[in-house]
Amino acid sequence: MTITPKSSIQSLVSYRPDVTPLPEGRQIRLSVNEGALGPSPKALEAIQSMGAELHRYPEQISRDLVAAIAERFSLDPNRILPSNGSDELIGLLSTAYLEDGDEAIITQYGFLVFPQSIRIAGGVPVVAMDDDLTVSIDAIINALSPKTKLIFVANPNNPTGTMVEKSEIERLIAAVPKDVIIVLDSAYSEYIPTEDSAYTDGAEYVERHDNVVMLRTFSKMFGLGSLRLGWGYFPLPIRDVLASIRGPFSVNAAAATVGAAAVRDRDFFDRSLAHNNLWLPRIQDSINQAGFQALPTRANFFLIRFADPEEAQTAHGFMAERGIQLRKMVPYGLPDCLRMSLGNEEEMEITAAAFKDLATSLSRKSS
Ligand SMILES: Cc1ncc(COP(=O)(O)O)c(C=O)c1O
Repeated sequence: MTITPKSSIQSLVSYRPDVTPLPEGRQIRLSVNEGALGPSPKALEAIQSMGAELHRYPEQISRDLVAAIAERFSLDPNRILPSNGSDELIGLLSTAYLEDGDEAIITQYGFLVFPQSIRIAGGVPVVAMDDDLTVSIDAIINALSPKTKLIFVANPNNPTGTMVEKSEIERLIAAVPKDVIIVLDSAYSEYIPTEDSAYTDGAEYVERHDNVVMLRTFSKMFGLGSLRLGWGYFPLPIRDVLASIRGPFSVNAAAATVGAAAVRDRDFFDRSLAHNNLWLPRIQDSINQAGFQALPTRANFFLIRFADPEEAQTAHGFMAERGIQLRKMVPYGLPDCLRMSLGNEEEMEITAAAFKDLATSLSRKSS
């Protein structure tokens, strides 16, 4: 007799991003939207200071980390819950709020962890179609049903890099029943300048509505992907539910200590943003000039559109041979695209040159 897991898990398409290093040689990893400048020097100092206390369990919720986040982003510390990456919070929200057969709305080109967590919880993902690679608030509103319990919107969205304006987020909040939780996943919000008044990370709505939550991560701008650290901002009852079902020690001591140091390092933050603002238009221009289409973005990554899926596949292999890892978009339903994140200056120069060579190699083959 075969022992089978529950039926919602049997139909799961498991999301497992490939983070295997290339077999040998140069490694320019632009495939997982990591911070371009690595970790902040303050984060490196903080991790080196750890050691003698390795045998101690960490604080369940690090007060210093929560205080550092609250201070940096002017938030209420009581509403903050750190997590083992924001992936953990996506899973916990689904586990806590979806009964078997309940619906959760996701967007057409949304982050693949959303449908995975919904299915694991026994829920049903309902897809709201995008409007030209941008989340459509109308489509989300039209997808609402009496069974809807959760709505997941990443803003800016991964993998498209597009943003939904604040006025649209307000329209969504106004249209959604108060017992449906709206999850605003703002993993890339740090890349949008604070003075851009058309954007909201959602924190202000968390404070005003009982059904809006915001998720953030240390894996992108803060460059701490290896430590697995995220956090959420919640209405108090939701925060308490998630805190009660979270693994008691899900955030390890290194993540908490280094995260607090990283979020306090304003200089590194400003340098990272300046780097993104400088190199995004430069690398996109180089790619466009080489004859490919770099799509507009508000994050630290963007889609590159090729003539067809075959050309995208060829480009992926061509870059990998030069040690440059880009992300295939077949699992996201965009087979003619690759996704690329920004790296450091040297990596961007090598990549720009490689796109030129790719163009030459493709035209040689087609002529
Ligand atoms: C939209 C979005 N949300 C969440 C995450 C996960 O972040 P973490 O590393 O904190 O789990 C990612 C990472 O790629 C992402 O793109």
